[in-house]
Amino acid sequence: MLILRDLGKSYANGRRVLSGLNYRLEEGEYVAVMGESGVGKSTLLNLIAGLDTPDAGQILVDGVDIAALDDDAATLLRREKFGFVFQAFHILPHLTLLQNVALPLLLRREPDTRARQMLEAVGLGARAHDYPRQLSGGELQRVAIARALAHRPRLILADEPTGNLDPDTAREVLQLLRGEIKDNGAAAIMVTHSHAAAATADRVLTLSARGLHPADGQPA
Ligand SMILES: Nc1ncnc2c1ncn2[C@@H]1O[C@H](COP(=O)(O)OP(=O)(O)O)[C@@H](O)[C@H]1O
Ligand SMILES: [Mg+2]
Repeated sequence: MLILRDLGKSYANGRRVLSGLNYRLEEGEYVAVMGESGVGKSTLLNLIAGLDTPDAGQILVDGVDIAALDDDAATLLRREKFGFVFQAFHILPHLTLLQNVALPLLLRREPDTRARQMLEAVGLGARAHDYPRQLSGGELQRVAIARALAHRPRLILADEPTGNLDPDTAREVLQLLRGEIKDNGAAAIMVTHSHAAAATADRVLTLSARGLHPADGQPA
């Protein structure tokens, strides 16, 4: 469902981060991406998410080159098919937790029932009417996960989703994430530094200057 073809990205300061990157993510496939800090993991997710543009290559989602879409069409496609768990992807401060999680549903004119269920699932059901400023970093991360999953996206992109969580909460959140991915037949790319988190994926890839490859000990 996602094809990365000869993808390249350099920053304005001339720093080449990704070059000639190829990968094909099948429907329903859940992969973890590991790799050294600064190698370009967040850049890769940002490109797929359309938060940044590649300077070479193509990103095909169900056969559509997202870089070739105009802004409105790209926004619609993302709203429809993608779920993001990005630390920098801010929860809106003036909305309650329930309103934040329900936003992807509201944009699709769907009822907020699933939003309530997802808040329950991340252990924040009782906090539905609180505001983000009343929460800890780890709690906010759980809100971001609930919101990313609320509309049952076909492609989930997660950048270190358990980075702020204690081990017990991380385990619960990963269980939820994997359950949702498998129940909904979604594909997912999770960037993580945690081997425990990566072990919940179907396969583990390493991003390096050579591109995306199976991690050591993983079948090719
Ligand atoms: N907006 C930017 N402008 C210039 N350089 C950037 C920018 N964003 C990231 N970089 C650089 O690109 C490299 C890859 O960054 P990033 O994708 O965040 O790595 P990772 O997530 O793997 O740690 C790093 O060297 C980083 O300093
Ligand atoms: Mg990063």
